[in-house]
Amino acid sequence: MRRLQKDFSQEMNPGRNEYDHQPVLVEEIIKLLITDSNGSYIDLTAGLGGHLAALAGKLETDAKLFGIDKDNEALERAGEKLKTLKQSVELKWGSYVEIESVMAEFGVEGFDGALLDLGLSSLQIDKAERGFSFSNDGPLDMRFDKDSDVSTAADLVNNLSERELTQIFREYGEERRSKFVAAGIVRERQEKMILTTSQLANIVKSIIHPPYQIKSLARIFQALRIAVNSELETLKSAVPKIVECLKTGGRLAVISYHSLEDRIVKNCFRNLLGACTCPPDFPVCVCGAKAQVKLITKKPLYPTDAEISSNPRSRSARLRVVEKVI
Ligand SMILES: C[S@@+](CC[C@H](N)C(=O)[O-])C[C@H]1O[C@@H](n2cnc3c(N)ncnc32)[C@H](O)[C@@H]1O
Repeated sequence: MRRLQKDFSQEMNPGRNEYDHQPVLVEEIIKLLITDSNGSYIDLTAGLGGHLAALAGKLETDAKLFGIDKDNEALERAGEKLKTLKQSVELKWGSYVEIESVMAEFGVEGFDGALLDLGLSSLQIDKAERGFSFSNDGPLDMRFDKDSDVSTAADLVNNLSERELTQIFREYGEERRSKFVAAGIVRERQEKMILTTSQLANIVKSIIHPPYQIKSLARIFQALRIAVNSELETLKSAVPKIVECLKTGGRLAVISYHSLEDRIVKNCFRNLLGACTCPPDFPVCVCGAKAQVKLITKKPLYPTDAEISSNPRSRSARLRVVEKVI
């Protein structure tokens, strides 16, 4: 696929360099993830280091903290933020789906706690050049790892067929008017390539009017972001691998931000609970299902009203936690 990109580097806010990220559900994470105050803890989506800093505040000096992220720019900022902590902190660039090799590189035998905080960091949302936001004009990029050679959102929008675009918007955005938006994109690109977030936003706005417009914009942008970063496939294959990398008694906490992610987490946890998969008419279990985890949160936990009013970006968050039992 051709790489399509408009260069915004000269046009966008060059002096701005502070992107404050308020970590979500921090008290709940501290309470449910820490089982040993001298243990080893990893944020598999370290972002700007907010959760790691909060965990450090409750851990002893001998505890060890680790972080990985696909976004080098975020990791650099996390490194700055965490360099004064009393505990040792190691950060590495990588994808959480490669947890086994990352763990070997860190030289850790198993984690006491692992956090997956899905979604976007404030750096990614607020920095127009990253192309995630429909309210800031920027290049239509949306890659978590902006140095990788995966297709950008512009590549997808300009090259996929109308049917493929419809499917992405329907599956990953649950957008009812997917077909019309895909048709609008195909019409527009016959005139001019679609290279910016505002071009795409204007196409959506020309098709979907208030009061549905903002929700549809969010859904279309979410769908493209999920497709660009293969987010759902990555999550599905990573959860069992992460549990493998925990010590017995270690915990995995996952914060998800929409129902597609949460459904995957719930189903992965259900599989790890070892529910018998034998046909219902079998007299005895022959599938050998064995529980690898127990549930720490029977139902997902949500941010309080107070958290949502101080950090509106937390409003769609939900947290599920399991503990490894074998
Ligand atoms: C909501 S932010 C995390 C914020 C972080 N917990 C904090 O407190 O600052 C989500 C992060 O996950 C990262 N990410 C997304 N997919 C990833 C993957 N497959 N592997 C590693 N990091 C990923 C993104 O780059 C982003 O920085």
